[in-house]
Amino acid sequence: MIVLEQVSKRYRHRDQGWFTAVEPLSLHIKAGEIFGLMGYSGAGKSTLLRLINLLERPDSGSVSVDGQTLTALSAPSLRQARQHIGMVFQQFNLLANRTVAANVAFPLEVAGWQRSDIERRVAECLDIVGLTDRANHYPAQLSGGQKQRVGIARALAASPKVILADEPTSALDPATTRSVLECLLDINRRFNVTIVIVTHEMSVIRRLCDRAALLHQGKLLEVIDVKDNQIHAQSAIGQELVQED
Ligand SMILES: Nc1ncnc2c1ncn2[C@@H]1O[C@H](COP(=O)(O)OP(=O)(O)OP(=O)(O)O)[C@@H](O)[C@H]1O
Ligand SMILES: [Mg+2]
Repeated sequence: MIVLEQVSKRYRHRDQGWFTAVEPLSLHIKAGEIFGLMGYSGAGKSTLLRLINLLERPDSGSVSVDGQTLTALSAPSLRQARQHIGMVFQQFNLLANRTVAANVAFPLEVAGWQRSDIERRVAECLDIVGLTDRANHYPAQLSGGQKQRVGIARALAASPKVILADEPTSALDPATTRSVLECLLDINRRFNVTIVIVTHEMSVIRRLCDRAALLHQGKLLEVIDVKDNQIHAQSAIGQELVQED
């Protein structure tokens, strides 16, 4: 579903020359999988996530999603392809001056959908995340967990094959975290959406993921299997992360 071949990313740091955030690495994520990106702060997790939908352009290598080589697309085709890749953010990134329904409608408006289709789809998505009764509220009137479920509904609006989530529960308390994870799991199971999730919380990996890539200082150390809510790490760093938890 998602194929990264030898992708890398470096940044120019003021006065310090080039800094490699992601060393050339290859990764294959399967359709329907919930795949984690884990590792210490600065490991390159967010950068790698953003390489998947080319929010960051890789300096080398290729990125394919659902059989389409994104790195080979023209700008308009890439914009089109991105509409089928939803994104969920740690700080929710909702539009404060729009209602819940209007936030979920936003990507569909951008994609040029007709008003009646938008209304139908928004209602469906709010039902999926259990927020039908909040449709006309504003983000400021919602709890953190509810805000994130709006973020998930918005990511789901255009029926994506893939959802990318960067620390979606890091701003939430444990009980709310569980409800947001259940929501993501439900969407994965019901609609077979492939989910890639960045997290530093091992409990999130255990609860949600089928596999996870462990990154460290821009390198892919290993791809870890998660079975029966257990993380089977081989590398020293991986075992350290699991033990610290
Ligand atoms: N736009 C940028 N310009 C310069 N350096 C960047 C940029 N984005 C990331 N970096 C650097 O790349 C490295 C990896 O950053 P990244 O945000 O991917 O890490 P991360 O694993 O997501 O960390 P965290 O857990 O703290 O979110 C860091 O050293 C960071 O400073
Ligand atoms: Mg990050």
